[in-house]
Amino acid sequence: MDRIVIKGGKPLKGEVMISGAKNAALPILVSSLLTDGWNTYHNVPDLKDITSIKFLLSNLGARIETYGNTVRINTKSVNKYEAPYDLVRKMRASILVLGPLLSRKKKAKVSLPGGCAIGARPVNLHLKGLKLLGVSYELKHGYIEAVADSLSGCDIYLDLPTVTGTENLMMAAVLAKGKTILRNAACEPEIIALADVLNQMGADIEGAGSSVIQINGVSSLYPVEVSIIPDRVEAGTFMVAAALNRGDIKIIDCEPDHLKAVIHKLKQTGTQVNVNGKTIHVKGTEKITAIDIKTLPYPGFPTDMQAQFMVLMSVAKGHSIISETIFESRFIHVSELRRMGADIKVSGNTAIVKGVQMLSGASVIASDLRASASLVIAGLVAQGTTIVNRIYHLDRGYEHLEKKLIKLGADIQRMR
Ligand code: EPU
Repeated sequence: MDRIVIKGGKPLKGEVMISGAKNAALPILVSSLLTDGWNTYHNVPDLKDITSIKFLLSNLGARIETYGNTVRINTKSVNKYEAPYDLVRKMRASILVLGPLLSRKKKAKVSLPGGCAIGARPVNLHLKGLKLLGVSYELKHGYIEAVADSLSGCDIYLDLPTVTGTENLMMAAVLAKGKTILRNAACEPEIIALADVLNQMGADIEGAGSSVIQINGVSSLYPVEVSIIPDRVEAGTFMVAAALNRGDIKIIDCEPDHLKAVIHKLKQTGTQVNVNGKTIHVKGTEKITAIDIKTLPYPGFPTDMQAQFMVLMSVAKGHSIISETIFESRFIHVSELRRMGADIKVSGNTAIVKGVQMLSGASVIASDLRASASLVIAGLVAQGTTIVNRIYHLDRGYEHLEKKLIKLGADIQRMR
């Protein structure tokens, strides 16, 4: 299995271009199921998760063509309605086909995603919303088997602002009869991106990006040609990498508006952060100041940046309290960071990090996508060599990570 080997200590310098956002691309590619013709998507990142979603769509009968970062999908030929266990097991976001399949095909059989390394991650809120829209479902042999004679607009309150839940329900409601209101909806930029694409298809969605989304059902939708928004988590990861190691980098083609919480917290650590249009200039400081972090739904501090900030706090001056409020077991990187010399204590959903002088390179194992990224950036600052094992998680979510880091001057290579 591939490993990444990093010799730490080289500050990052130069420019890095940000790829399209995985978590925007996944629901947007799936939204092609709502149309009947060729859709064209630009700036689609070349990632394992994107390959998985394309495989799932082609398994349903869609025709797919890929030219570099452009993907064309025609769902006219879709004649199946099942997302099998083997695909959903690889990528939980496969659950996103549930809403659009019910909308277009009036039935869907989707494997129930199990828990994953970061938490139980149930889909009860997706199902609760679909039921209110008129879907009947049974949970049988590990599958959600759902049918809907017709979908009718309704008022849905989400107990939690679930991201993929909001996306699934938006895609189920766009072709329903009448008006649907989603309350306590997720406000993430990826929700706005999906709503924008659906509106370009001819949907009538208002309020995406706020906690109340109003969807007036329309009778049909049309294919689109759109571009995927930049990946805010990839940009944030490079920002922290530069801050960690007294780097000086310009992050190009990103969306600073989506990174306000990250920029704010990074500035509190003493890191210089300057925004100029779609570029963020980050300059690390000699003395990183310890700060507290609490993950929250957008526009709060993103859970997808918690592990990377924990690395930064590991070498900061002072104590930092990090609270994870989104996922119940998203501290799996802690034991690996400890092996690199970090001083971190965990109690429930809180980690107390006492900054140390320096981390030391070690062999570590990546357990989920963002934990993997945190171990790579820890390796960049650690003394000696770090070997990050089991890196397939990284390939799920960071396009050409080591190539981009090499261009910034890092001593990093993939060993096969
Ligand atoms: N939840 C429920 N019931 C539901 C749905 C969610 O209890 O029906 C709970 C979850 O267990 C969790 C919380 O609600 O405790 C929030 O989960 P959410 O549904 O918002 O997460 P998600 O949609 O499964 C997306 C991203 C994650 C990101 C989270 C939070 C995609 C494909 N995934 O997951 O991204 O961490 O939102 O922002 O958009 C990643 O990219 O590494 C990643 C994990």
